[in-house]
Amino acid sequence: MSSESADLHPAAEKRAGGCPFDFRAPLRLSARLTLPGRAVLSPLQGVMTRTFMQAAARLDLIPLWFTPFFSTGGVSVPKRAAILRKLAPYRVRPDLPLVFQLIGHDARSLSATAAGFAEYGVQGINLNFACPSKTVTASGNGAYLLRSPETVFELTQAVVEAVPDGVSVSVKLRAGWDSPDHIREIVRAVCDAGADWIVFHYRTAKEMYSPVDASERVRRIACAVEAAGNVPVFGNGDITSCADAEALVRSTGCAGVAVGRGFLSDPWLVRRILSGDANPASEAEKSAFLRLLLAGTDSTKRGRNWFLECVKMTYGADSVEFREARECDWGALRARWAES
Ligand SMILES: Cc1cc2nc3c(=O)[nH]c(=O)nc-3n(C[C@H](O)[C@H](O)[C@H](O)COP(=O)(O)O)c2cc1C
Repeated sequence: MSSESADLHPAAEKRAGGCPFDFRAPLRLSARLTLPGRAVLSPLQGVMTRTFMQAAARLDLIPLWFTPFFSTGGVSVPKRAAILRKLAPYRVRPDLPLVFQLIGHDARSLSATAAGFAEYGVQGINLNFACPSKTVTASGNGAYLLRSPETVFELTQAVVEAVPDGVSVSVKLRAGWDSPDHIREIVRAVCDAGADWIVFHYRTAKEMYSPVDASERVRRIACAVEAAGNVPVFGNGDITSCADAEALVRSTGCAGVAVGRGFLSDPWLVRRILSGDANPASEAEKSAFLRLLLAGTDSTKRGRNWFLECVKMTYGADSVEFREARECDWGALRARWAES
C-alpha cells in the first residue's frame, strides 16, 4: 500500500485505481426521492432567483432542484399561499425532483413547515445547519446549531417524524462551528435522528470561505463519510472541474458531490461531472447562460446588482469582464451580452 492510499477511508480505498466513479448512477434515498445522479447544484441564496432557475431549466443544466433556504422565521409556520408561492418557480420543470431547504431552530415550526411543504409534493426536505452568515447565525440558525449536536439531533428527528413516509429528510452541514473536532458527533447525531442523506461542506462556520489545506479538506470529508456509515454523504466545497469531483470521491469515499460557486464559472459543470466530460467551460457556454440571466433581469438597481454578482462569480472579482461590466450602464450591459 502506498503512503498516499494509507490515509484513505476504506470506501475510498475500494475506489482508488478502479473504474471511473459512475456519477450517473441514481441514488434511491426514500420512496419519494431518487437522486438522478451523484452530482447536484448546491443551493445559492440570492443567486438562484426565478430567472436563474428558468435559465438553468431551459438549458437543462441540473438533474434536481435543491433550493436555497426558506427561513421559518423563528416560531412561525407559513400559510398555504406562502408555500405555494415558494414552490412556484420550480414548476418550470416539474419533472425534476425537488428538495426544499429549511432553516430554523424551533422544532415545532420546522416540523410543521416541513410537513406543509411535503403536502404539496416535494420529494425531500433539507435542513440547513451550514449557513455561516452572521445575520443567520446571530439568530441562532444555520451553522450556529453545530455548537450543539443534541439540538441538531432533536431538530432533525422532529422533522423526520413530521413528514409523511417516503419523504426524504437530509441535512446540509459544515465541519463544525469553530473547530472540526466534532465532525463525528455531529454526523452521528443527524444519522441517528433519521436523516437519509448529508451534504457536507468541509470548512467550519468560523472559516467561512477562507483557504483550508487540501489534505485537511480530504480528512474532514472522509471523517464525515466514515461517521455516516451507510448514510450517503455528498462532499461540497471548491469543486470546479470534473477532475476535482472525481478526485474528491476517490480520496474521501463520498457518495457524490454538490457544486456551488463553480456552477457560475461553468454552468454545465454538474452536467459535465455527470457525463464525465472533462472539457472546461467555453466562452460561448458562459455567455449563453449569462445572456439568459440578463434577458430575465429588469433594469432596477437590484436587478443590475444581481446580474453583476453573477458576472463576478462567473469570471472572478479581478477579471476584466467584471470590471468592464461594472462600468456599463443598463443599455451597454444589454448590448454587451446580447452580442456575445
Ligand atoms: C451566495 C451564496 C449563497 C448560498 N446560499 C446557500 C443556501 O441557501 N443554502 C445552503 O445550504 N448553502 C448555501 N450556500 C453555500 C453553498 O451551497 C456551498 O455550500 C458553498 O458555496 C461551498 O461550495 P462551493 O465551494 O462549491 O461554492 C451559499 C453560498 C453562496 C456563495
